Amino acid sequence: MLEHLTVVSHPLVQHKLTIMRDKGTSTASFRQLLREISLLLAYEVTRELPMTTRQIETPLCQMDAPAIEGKKLALISILRAGNGLLDGILELIPAARVGFVGLYRDPESLQPVQYYCKVPDHLEDRVTIVVDPMLATGNSSVAAVDLLKQKGAREIRFLCLLASPEGIARMQAAHPDVPIVTAAVDECLNDHGYIVPGLGDAGDRMFGTK
Ligand code: URA
Repeated sequence: MLEHLTVVSHPLVQHKLTIMRDKGTSTASFRQLLREISLLLAYEVTRELPMTTRQIETPLCQMDAPAIEGKKLALISILRAGNGLLDGILELIPAARVGFVGLYRDPESLQPVQYYCKVPDHLEDRVTIVVDPMLATGNSSVAAVDLLKQKGAREIRFLCLLASPEGIARMQAAHPDVPIVTAAVDECLNDHGYIVPGLGDAGDRMFGTK
């Protein structure tokens, strides 16, 4: 089992994250860095995938070589910012099935409202990795995991770039069985539900919107 909370403190991750946080970083650089970080985070979130061995023949002899067990992966992106993490992870795991959950935050209540859901079949047979760069209030993340559990997912992991203490507490209270992997845990949330110091609106930074 992965730890309940893994903070990926690798120097490459932390260095890239610092550049992403900087408000002077361009959209193109932000996107590229998110792609690069997502590869490093994917490495951590898949660390304990079940393994088996496969008999192969090297040029010298036969061997039982390690291979990932047949359990298939489902990557679920929480729209729209999740797609920035998704693209990088798919480079590493091109055979993964992909789903999308569309949730927006009501600006008044900060509660999630679902507007889209399309996920792979047989989630019960897959390791499901939910990706969203910002675990802020935790409301969207909890709602997405609720939905995926209703659709049969049993083994779920949550991957984000930045988390707030409030978001982690909310997720762990609602879904203690879901390990969280993140690059950093920031100080707090502000009154608008933004992570502080954070990096601003991940979707806007990634897509150049405002
Ligand atoms: N979503 C973001 O994009 N940024 C935050 O700080 C919080 C939620």
